Amino acid sequence: MEVRVLQVGLGLLFLLAAQHAPAVAIPSPQCQKMCGNVEIEYPFGIGENCSLTSDFNVSCQVIDGITKPFIDKAEVLNISLTNGTMRMLNHIASTCYNTSSRSMDFSRYGGLNARGSAYRFSDTQNKFTVIGCNTLAFIYDSNGTGYQSGMDYYRAGFAKGFNTSQIWNFSRCSYAVLMESAAFNFSTAYITTNKFNNTFSGRVPTILDWAIRNGTMSCPVATRNESGTYACLSSNSDCVNSTNGPGYICNCSKGYEGNPYLPGGCKDVNECNQSPCPSRGGICHNEVGRYRCSCTTGRKFSKQNNTCDLDNGLIIGVTIGFLVLVIFSCSGYMLNSYTPQTTTIRVELIGKEGYGTVYKGIIKDKMHVAIKRCTLISERQKKEFGQEMLILSQINHKNIVKLVGCCLEVEVPMLVYEFIPNGTLYELIHGKNRALQISFSTLLRIAHEAAEGLNFLHSYASPPIIHGDVKTANILLDENYMAKVADFGASILAPSDEEQYVTMVQGTCGYLDPEYMQTCQLTDKSDVYSFGVILLEVLTGQVPLKLEGDETQRSLSSNFLSAMKENNVDALLVSHVKGKESTELIRGLAELAKQCLNMCGVNRPTMKEVVDELGRLRKLALHPWVRITNTESESLLDGPSSTGFEIDVATTTGYPTQEGDNAPMNPNSSYYAR
Ligand SMILES: *[C@@H]1O[C@H](CO)[C@@H](O)[C@H](O)[C@H]1NC(C)=O
Ligand SMILES: *[C@@H]1O[C@H](CO)[C@@H](O)[C@H](O)[C@H]1NC(C)=O
Ligand SMILES: *[C@@H]1O[C@H](CO)[C@@H](O)[C@H](O)[C@H]1NC(C)=O
Ligand SMILES: *[C@@H]1O[C@H](CO)[C@@H](O)[C@H](O)[C@H]1NC(C)=O
Ligand SMILES: *[C@@H]1O[C@H](CO)[C@@H](O)[C@H](O)[C@H]1NC(C)=O
Ligand SMILES: *[C@@H]1O[C@H](CO)[C@@H](O)[C@H](O)[C@H]1NC(C)=O
Ligand SMILES: *[C@@H]1O[C@H](CO)[C@@H](O)[C@H](O)[C@H]1NC(C)=O
Ligand SMILES: *[C@@H]1O[C@H](CO)[C@@H](O)[C@H](O)[C@H]1NC(C)=O
Ligand SMILES: *[C@@H]1O[C@H](CO)[C@@H](O)[C@H](O)[C@H]1NC(C)=O
Ligand SMILES: *[C@@H]1O[C@H](CO)[C@@H](O)[C@H](O)[C@H]1NC(C)=O
Ligand SMILES: *[C@@H]1O[C@H](CO)[C@@H](O)[C@H](O)[C@H]1NC(C)=O
Ligand SMILES: *[C@@H]1O[C@H](CO)[C@@H](O)[C@H](O)[C@H]1NC(C)=O
Repeated sequence: MEVRVLQVGLGLLFLLAAQHAPAVAIPSPQCQKMCGNVEIEYPFGIGENCSLTSDFNVSCQVIDGITKPFIDKAEVLNISLTNGTMRMLNHIASTCYNTSSRSMDFSRYGGLNARGSAYRFSDTQNKFTVIGCNTLAFIYDSNGTGYQSGMDYYRAGFAKGFNTSQIWNFSRCSYAVLMESAAFNFSTAYITTNKFNNTFSGRVPTILDWAIRNGTMSCPVATRNESGTYACLSSNSDCVNSTNGPGYICNCSKGYEGNPYLPGGCKDVNECNQSPCPSRGGICHNEVGRYRCSCTTGRKFSKQNNTCDLDNGLIIGVTIGFLVLVIFSCSGYMLNSYTPQTTTIRVELIGKEGYGTVYKGIIKDKMHVAIKRCTLISERQKKEFGQEMLILSQINHKNIVKLVGCCLEVEVPMLVYEFIPNGTLYELIHGKNRALQISFSTLLRIAHEAAEGLNFLHSYASPPIIHGDVKTANILLDENYMAKVADFGASILAPSDEEQYVTMVQGTCGYLDPEYMQTCQLTDKSDVYSFGVILLEVLTGQVPLKLEGDETQRSLSSNFLSAMKENNVDALLVSHVKGKESTELIRGLAELAKQCLNMCGVNRPTMKEVVDELGRLRKLALHPWVRITNTESESLLDGPSSTGFEIDVATTTGYPTQEGDNAPMNPNSSYYAR
């Protein structure tokens, strides 16, 4: 009965043979592979003995001079072997106003019958789509239920009884069809014209899910291959249950591609063509079914981050690592005291910075350490931590904070440093106690030491290590007020290839090299610029960037440069410098700062030149009557307290010494003679 109704309408029928032809083991190589521009791959085939079953029998027809593939009467647009899908054109059901009978003509039902075949209407990629005015359309399957999963048959039709006398002359026809949702784009012209019907000449794309369907056979049974009909003939292929109805499809295993339905059809994928290994120092090796990455000599492959990192300095990390692991596997609950059986370790929270928490730890009542632990750890932060560790572990200099250990095995990585008790140069210049008279020569010495640390960084390795975030807050002061450059989170080994130039801006406002802002190229001269700002802070006691006040006066460096131009630097100087220090020293420092702040990086002095000039100026301050050459100045670059220009630390009572800080740290680890 239903079949007869469908034949009356424009509905398309799958009149498929009820019995399946015996499975063809391998199609002949003579089988046609293309029909028009559609590739026909086994289990689909054109002609006798070319397809797996008659369900996949494709006929290639020439319609109006164009070659097109058909399965039964449905035109095929695409076949996907991996998804088990097929796009075909489905006829649109319609109803139109008949002007002579003055009523709707209901003869053009739509529908598709694929009962008992390999095909099901996709329940995820199709939508039942209805267009018209005063219209109601319906869809139902052979059981009279609506659109659902597993449908192999549907009919579409329209409800009668709507009064169309008002609308027939501008919207004569209504349409209904099950179609690919992605292919539909509503246009108001669809209501008033027959454009919707005409786009594919009365048809629209619909997605069908196909599978190897023999009864209810699914993967567990099919793979046993008891009847010798298992269709996944290629080695390195997998059986995948159909997502729509019974049956299964075949996929090539991971690392393979090709046709899983043919013996030897799944071929190894050369993953290396997609460059999956680290671009910097990585080497890709394609292997059967997979690939492997290795690194050029001197670099170590990190599988987790897919990077090739410089492979050195990891030994310290391992030795201290265990100790730190003991501390931090419990760090959640032991902010104040924790006593394991063997050693006494006290940990206290001492501060939070940008993206980490810093703890102070005392190990065995002797060794004081600072432990930096990330709070919110993103991949980028992890990378920065790794960066910092890698760089610091390679460096040993008296003016660079020393990494004594690291712990990367735990969820959030941690770095363990020597503990630097006396705060930062920033606090010394701008802190609450700045009213205290810190002698200018001390500030100058600290700046000189910081410059030495930076010079060491720049000259230590080739390519040079760039700090990237030089500022007074990153210059720590040890118990003797000796400078220790810290915080290498933004550091990079100077790039050797172009792509590395594009790094994120990480420096601090007020210190950032203006040239870097334009070129995105971080160089050792960017650190020199930032150091120039530090010199200004020492000279003027002002912060690099004022957030309030006159907008034109906010930046210390621009204020300074214009004062230099007007020969009016004195007005900016900090009170205890004004008139007390020799004019030659002040002029020398201002000139040095000006050179460091040159807009053009190449015109700035190198860090080495800065160190030498500072050394010369400091000697000048001591013995203004002596002209000292640069080579002689080396003899004065010694540790603290051996020269007369040190302040007495005891006078800095305004800097509260923390409990336990008076005990010197392990002196051997604090100082390192190069
Ligand atoms: C198809 O296969 C059958 C059985 O192997 C064979 O008899 C027949 O000749 C084949 N037909 C063609 C066109 O190859
Ligand atoms: C496939 O269809 C063609 C005609 O369209 C027919 O000659 C052939 O026998 C069919 N083959 C199978 C396996 O059903
Ligand atoms: C489907 O076939 C059409 C033409 O036949 C082509 O333009 C389109 O890219 C194909 N889509 C896919 C997903 O293969
Ligand atoms: C297979 O499915 C994926 C995910 O739905 C889709 O992105 C891809 O285009 C499909 N491939 C074909 C050939 O239809
Ligand atoms: C309109 O109705 C008349 C009378 O019922 C019928 O003869 C004619 O075929 C119909 N026209 C169309 C286009 O269906
Ligand atoms: C329709 O009914 C038949 C038998 O009554 C049943 O086997 C089949 O699963 C039903 N189809 C759907 C889609 O529910
Ligand atoms: C349809 O509506 C028009 C006006 O709204 C009315 O004149 C006409 O009688 C209605 N026809 C039917 C069959 O109800
Ligand atoms: C359509 O017909 C109705 C009455 O049959 C009339 O009122 C209306 O103006 C017509 N509209 C157009 C666009 O011809
Ligand atoms: C839709 O298009 C087909 C093919 O062009 C045509 O035969 C049919 O009459 C059209 N139907 C309507 C309602 O326009
Ligand atoms: C379907 O499975 C039965 C065994 O369950 C087997 O005998 C038959 O050959 C299979 N048919 C096809 C077309 O694979
Ligand atoms: C496939 O379907 C069968 C029957 O529904 C089920 O037992 C089996 O676990 C499924 N296999 C997979 C891999 O999903
Ligand atoms: C690599 O990953 C580990 C673990 O997430 C992380 O600790 C380390 O910092 C990363 N190293 C680099 C260089 O990104």
